[in-house]
Amino acid sequence: MAKISPDVGPRFAQVVVLFGATGDLARRKLLPGLFHLTSAGFIPGCRIIGVSLDDIDLDAFRQLARAALDEFSSRPVGDAEWAAFAALLDYVPLAAGATALKAAVHQSEQLLGRESRRLHYLSVPPSAALSAVQLLGEAGLVERSRIVMEKPFGTDLVSAVALNTRLHGVFAEEQIFRIDHFLGKEPAQNILAFRFANGLFEPIWNRNFIDHVQIDVPETLGLGQRAGFYEQTGAYRDMVVTHLFQILAFMAMEPPTALEPAPISEEKNKVFRSMLPIQPADVVRGQYTGYRAEQGVNLESDSETFIALKCAIDNWRWAGVPFYLRTGKRLAEGQRIISIAFREPPKSMFPAGSGVGAQGPDHLTFDLADASKMSLSFYGKRPGPGMRLDKLSLQFAMHDTGFIGDVLEAYERLILDAMRADRTLFTTAEGIERLWEVSMPLLEAPPPVRFYAPGSWGPNAIHQLIAPRAWRLPFERAWRNPNTVGN
Ligand code: BG6
Repeated sequence: MAKISPDVGPRFAQVVVLFGATGDLARRKLLPGLFHLTSAGFIPGCRIIGVSLDDIDLDAFRQLARAALDEFSSRPVGDAEWAAFAALLDYVPLAAGATALKAAVHQSEQLLGRESRRLHYLSVPPSAALSAVQLLGEAGLVERSRIVMEKPFGTDLVSAVALNTRLHGVFAEEQIFRIDHFLGKEPAQNILAFRFANGLFEPIWNRNFIDHVQIDVPETLGLGQRAGFYEQTGAYRDMVVTHLFQILAFMAMEPPTALEPAPISEEKNKVFRSMLPIQPADVVRGQYTGYRAEQGVNLESDSETFIALKCAIDNWRWAGVPFYLRTGKRLAEGQRIISIAFREPPKSMFPAGSGVGAQGPDHLTFDLADASKMSLSFYGKRPGPGMRLDKLSLQFAMHDTGFIGDVLEAYERLILDAMRADRTLFTTAEGIERLWEVSMPLLEAPPPVRFYAPGSWGPNAIHQLIAPRAWRLPFERAWRNPNTVGN
C-alpha cells in the first residue's frame, strides 16, 4: 500500500459528493478511480455520497458500485478492499432535496472525525449542472468546498458566459475546477516534460523547422447509451473544443515562467488568443451511416460523429504552420496521437530512386495512451551496396521503464489534484470562453455532414482538407512492440 505523502495526497480528509453517481462516467471512471485512490492510501480519510435522479437506497448503490468496479477497475478488487470501500459510500436521491443532502454531508463529516474538505463532483449533463449548483447553495455546502465541473462548459460563447456568471453567483472561481481529462493523461503532462526539461527540441519547436502538426484521436467505439447526450453535443463540442484544443495548447505554448497554475494558464490562454477563428471551409463534418437508426437519435439528425479541421495559431512561433485535428466514432482504429512533421531538407544529393522523402517527412510522434510511447522517425541508409534510404525510427515506450505500474489514470490524477487545490491541469473560464469565441464561425454555419462507412477513416473529403500533405494514420509502420526483440 502506498504511503501518503504530502506531495501527492491532500492534507485533509475529503467528503466527495458525486452528482450523477449512477451514470456512465461514474461507473466507468469515477467510482473505480475513487476506489483506487482510497485503497492505495492517497487520501487521509474519505466518504463518498452518491447523488442521482435514481430513487434507490444505499444497498442498491453499493451493488451498482461493486458491479462498476468488477467491470471497469483496472486493478483487482479484493474482498477486504471492497468491504472498506463499501463502508465509505452513502447515497441521497436527488428528489430528497437540500436538507437530506446537508444532513448526509454533516453525518459524513462527523464520521471522519477530523478536519475535512468537501469535493462536489458534477458528473451530469450541462442542462443539469446549474440545478446541482443551486442545490449545493441551498444546502449550505459551499464553504470548505471545491466543485469539479465536467465538460462541455456551455454549448457556445453566450451559454458559456452565462454558465460562468451563474456559477460565480454561488462558487468563487478559485473553488471551481473545470476538468478536461486529457490533461490528466500521463503523456499529456509528458509533453511539458519533453519540451521544457530538455534543450534538444525546443530550439526547433517553431515555424522554421516544423511543417505542420496533427492531433488525431480516432475511436472505434460507437455511442452505446450516450446517443441522447451526443445528439445535443456532436464530436466538435464533445472532443475538439475540449480535449483536442487543450492538448494543442500544451504542444504550442511558450515556456511558462513556472510549473504553477497561473503561469501555465496564462501561456495556454495566449495560444487560444492567437488562434484564428475556425472557418467552415476548413472543416469536414461526418456522420457514420446507421447513426440515424440508433435509439435516441433523430431520423434526420445533423449531429456529427466525426470531425476533421485545419486551424492556425497566428503568432511568431506558429504563423503559417497548419494544425490538423481529427476525431470521430466508429472509425477504423482507436489511436490518440500528436504527430509533428518537420520540414524537409532544401536540396537532396541522393540520386533519384534512392527513397529519400518517399515516406514523408521526419516525424516526432507522441502516443497519448496511458502506457505512452514516443517515436522520432528519420531517413537512414539500408545496409548493402549503393545508397538506398529507408524510414527508420527511435522509439520509447513507457513499458520499457519500471514505472508502468505507477501510472495514475487521468481521472484519478485530476481528482487528487482537485482535492489538493492544485489547478495546474484544469482549464479556466477565460480560456474556455475564448475557445467558444473562435468556434463561432463554425457553429453558426456548420458545413453539411458527409456520411462515412463505419470502420473507415471518415468521409473522403478529409484528404482534400490536408492535401498536399497526408494523414499520418493509419501508420505505415506499426509501433515496435517493446516485448518483441528484433522487429
Ligand atoms: C470523453 C468523450 O470526454 O472522452 C468521449 O465524451 C470519448 O466521447 C472519451 O470517447 C475519450 O476518452 P479516452 O480517455 O478514452 O481517450
